Amino acid sequence: MRHVIEPTDMSVDEIDQLIAIAEDIERGPNDYANRCEGRILASLFYEPSTRTRLSFESAMISLGGSVIGFSSADTSSAAKGESVADTIRAISCYADICAIRHSKEGAALVAAAYSRIPVINAGDGGHEHPTQTYTDLLTIHSVKKSLCGLTVGLCGDLKFGRTVHSLIKALSLYRDNEFVLVSPDELQVPEYITGILKDRGCLFERTSDLESCISRLDILYMTRVQRERFFNEADYVRLKDSYILNMSKLAKAKDSLAVLHPLPRVNEIAVEVDNDPRAKYFSQVQYGKYIRMALIMKLLEDRNGGGAC
Ligand code: NCD
Repeated sequence: MRHVIEPTDMSVDEIDQLIAIAEDIERGPNDYANRCEGRILASLFYEPSTRTRLSFESAMISLGGSVIGFSSADTSSAAKGESVADTIRAISCYADICAIRHSKEGAALVAAAYSRIPVINAGDGGHEHPTQTYTDLLTIHSVKKSLCGLTVGLCGDLKFGRTVHSLIKALSLYRDNEFVLVSPDELQVPEYITGILKDRGCLFERTSDLESCISRLDILYMTRVQRERFFNEADYVRLKDSYILNMSKLAKAKDSLAVLHPLPRVNEIAVEVDNDPRAKYFSQVQYGKYIRMALIMKLLEDRNGGGAC
């Protein structure tokens, strides 16, 4: 049985297949309307979410399946002190596949260890968020028609931003990508991530100055400062507006730049940018549904040893 805890739990070939299927879904969603009939997705969200939870649920419903779950820890037995391990044992009796989001790093891995159904990590603390990465890759592919040879700027909270960690891990598997890591000193990407870039021989640089590098970028991946992961509010307040992308900064960028953001946005992209053709963060939301449809089908098909899920 397959679980997806980090983006590299799928090989590059498999990620490419997911992207191809998601693009086919985009062309003709009705062809997929019954693919998961009779199957149940459990959506276990211990942490707040809008897009990830609802896109998983919408994806399963659009495949003809059904959804059960909870949208906060308070309404689950976690509030009574139940462990993730015990909860997933129960959920395995009710559902065919599950997506789990939790504030603790490693929670999805623990769930997978005790689960009898495929587990998809929908975000574990400041660690990983693989399905956001597949969404990001699909978005980049739709704009650039390739996932290779790109100069990718990642800007904001690179320390706690799990989407950044997962995206770097996956995109560094593709040929000739260069990474420009833009953050305040305190919010630099963790060393295990730069270690991966070094091991894979990828070019990367760190800077705190977005304006000095924006003209070179093919992709600019903006992120919010992750307030909920800070130890004190004063540090958050000091760092929260480190980067605000506005039209005057964007004026220095290529016409072909694609601006992505996993959302939610707080202040880091001025609303005036939304109507610029380079702003791709709202189409990214739509791609999140298609890629999750492709992933749910794949995991259920693999479990069945191929064939319809
Ligand atoms: C991200 C997350 O939860 O990590 N949101 C999302 O899933 N689209 C990014 C964030 O919360 O900043």
